[in-house]
Amino acid sequence: MQGDLCKVDDIQKVFKLYRFEAVIHFAGLKAVGESVSKPLRYYSNNLVSTINLMEVMSKNNCKNLVFSSSATVYGQPESVPCTEDYPLHVTNPYGRTKLINEDIMRDVHHADPEWKIVLLRYFNPVGSHPSGEIGEDPMDYPNNLMPFVQQVAVGRKEVLTVFGQDYPTRDGTGIRDYIHVMDLASGHTKALDKLFTTPDIGCAVYNLGTGKGTTVLEMVAAFVKASGKEIPLKYAGRRPGDCREVYAATEKAEKELGWRAKFGIADMCRDQWNWAKKNPYGYRGHQELEVHAQKFIKSEPLSNRHWAL
Ligand code: UFG
Repeated sequence: MQGDLCKVDDIQKVFKLYRFEAVIHFAGLKAVGESVSKPLRYYSNNLVSTINLMEVMSKNNCKNLVFSSSATVYGQPESVPCTEDYPLHVTNPYGRTKLINEDIMRDVHHADPEWKIVLLRYFNPVGSHPSGEIGEDPMDYPNNLMPFVQQVAVGRKEVLTVFGQDYPTRDGTGIRDYIHVMDLASGHTKALDKLFTTPDIGCAVYNLGTGKGTTVLEMVAAFVKASGKEIPLKYAGRRPGDCREVYAATEKAEKELGWRAKFGIADMCRDQWNWAKKNPYGYRGHQELEVHAQKFIKSEPLSNRHWAL
C-alpha cells in the first residue's frame, strides 16, 4: 500500500485498516544542498508530513513514536564525541526541519504525557543488506560520500572529488561516524522495545553511531580493499557548510537501549560492494535509468515523501 504523509486522508485510510501500537517515522527529504535552494519544499514536506502523522496517530490513540532524526542537529560540535545533551545548532533548512520536528515532538509530549517518543539521531549510514538485494539507490546526483564512491567503482562516475584536504585531522580530510545500515535497523527495534517497556520514557533522544571517527581517505581505502576497484581521486576545496569532525558518544544508547554497533567500516564496504556489483544501476536497469534521467532533467525532482506498507 502506498500513500503520501502530506495527505491526511492517505494516513487515515491506513489507520482504518489496521490498529497500530507504534509508528517508526522515517519519511523525509534529505539532500542538504537541495534544501538550501528549495527551503519551502523542505519545510512543507518534512514538517507537514510529521504534523499530519501525529494528528492521525493521536486521533487513533496510537501515541508511541520513533523518529529518524540526525546528527546534523549538532552542527559543528565544540568537541567530540557528541553527547545527546550537546547544544543544538543547525546550518541549513534540511537540518532545521529535523530540529523543528524534534521540537514539535517535545512539545506534543509536554502537552500530552501519554505520548512516548524516541528520537534517534543517525550519524552517517553506509552499507547495504548483506544479501545484496536491498541498498541505497539515489534517484539523482549522489551527494553523499559512499553512494558516490560506489558509482565510481561500477564505472558510472569517473572520479571522486574529495572536499577539503586541509582540515586539522590526521590526513587533512573530514571525519565522520559511519554506521552500517543493519546496525541502524537494530537500533530501531531496540528503541521500540524501550518504548514498550518504559512507561515514563517521555521524549527521549539517543545517538545511533559507532563512536569511531573515520576520514574520507580511510573510507575510500576501505572500499578499495573490499571491492578491488580503483577509485580515482581529485581534490577540491572544502564543501560549504561541512564540519571538520563529528562522531557519536554511544554510552547512553548502550546503557539505556542495550544497543551498540556491531559492524566496522570493512563490513560496511563489503556489503555495499556486494549490493553495487549485483545492482550496478540500482533497482532499475541501465536503460530504465537513462529514461528516468531524461525525464528527471525535464521535470521536478522525485519526492521521497512516499511511503509503502
Ligand atoms: N565528501 C567528499 N566527496 C563527496 C561527498 C562527500 O569528499 O563527493 C566528504 C564530505 O566533505 C564529508 C564526508 O565526505 O567530509 C561525508 O560527507 P556526506 O555527504 O556523505 O555526509 P555528511 O556528513 O555531510 O552528511 C550526512 C547526511 C546528512 C546528515 C549528516 C549527519 O548527508 O543528511 O550526515 O551527520 F545530516
